[in-house]
Amino acid sequence: MDGAVGADGVEAVRVRFLGRKGLLADEFRRMGELGPDERRARGAALNELKVFCEKRLADARDRLAAGVRSAAGVDVTLPGRRAPAGVAHPVMTTLRDICEVFRLAGFDIASGPEVETDRYNFEALNIPPDHPARDMHDTFYLADSNPKSKIQNPKFLLRTHTSPVQIRVMEKQKPPVRVIAPGRVYRRDDDVSHTPMFHQVEGLWVDAGVTLSDLKGLLEYFAKSIFGEGVRLRFRPSFFPFTEPSLEVDVSCVICGGGMHSRSCRTCKSTGWLEILGAGMVHPNVFRSVRYDSRRVTGLAFGMGVERITMLRYAIDDIRLFYENDIRFLQALSL
Ligand code: DAH
Repeated sequence: MDGAVGADGVEAVRVRFLGRKGLLADEFRRMGELGPDERRARGAALNELKVFCEKRLADARDRLAAGVRSAAGVDVTLPGRRAPAGVAHPVMTTLRDICEVFRLAGFDIASGPEVETDRYNFEALNIPPDHPARDMHDTFYLADSNPKSKIQNPKFLLRTHTSPVQIRVMEKQKPPVRVIAPGRVYRRDDDVSHTPMFHQVEGLWVDAGVTLSDLKGLLEYFAKSIFGEGVRLRFRPSFFPFTEPSLEVDVSCVICGGGMHSRSCRTCKSTGWLEILGAGMVHPNVFRSVRYDSRRVTGLAFGMGVERITMLRYAIDDIRLFYENDIRFLQALSL
């Protein structure tokens, strides 16, 4: 009966089993051949079977009526349409992988607001007003929402990097500190390698005796975990106001293998190297702004762009593809 299709199907089943010339009627008729005791027992069993069949038929009719009511003319017997399963966005997959690599190295996860003040985004990071480093961090400023604010410089802006989370963590917590801070950041930028919103992961490790060689070892472990054991690292001197010394870190080109046969590699522009992050030892002025004693502790810090690392991992040459929401692009990368 469960296999019967539609009202006609149910009726056909009824006729076949319970109809005047149906199977049950045959059985009742055949009872005449039995002795009185057997007949009584068989009669009771057949009656029970009849009640059972009537109940199942009534149930089937109820189900049909309900189906017709809810589907209002739709053929409920057609196979269903399967909803496509979602996939993780490739940038989120990379972000999660990066967090996992640092979690295994003993880092906690910290976070901070995306709307920041000038103090956290710049001043406490040793970037005073008018410092040229601000040029690269042109951002979106918000109208002062609260002119009576007790904050010294109540200028609100969308944070341009995750570095302000360093300040927020150190203000709340005494050393040792070992955190990463993943999150969204904003800049007034828009081309094949920049979007106005993107993601960074910040890292901060402060304790007695943390050194530049700890930074190198940590970043080498990180790069090999994300890009594979074969990757080589290059550390170049650089400048950031909040670190001293500062460096930029390159990995050997993941496309051409780093110069061996890179005469025409578009990804690394045939240099063999790809910049992946900025890093350095925390500047004493940063420690001063959070009242840490730079005679007792030292710190390493680093910051990386998650879209950039994802592009290198999947050999994507246009960052804007991440945010066009073309489901074919996202699904191709989730394989
Ligand atoms: N905040 C820098 C930026 O967005 C990246 C960075 C460089 C972060 C060096 C750091 C660091 O923590 O030590 O350009």
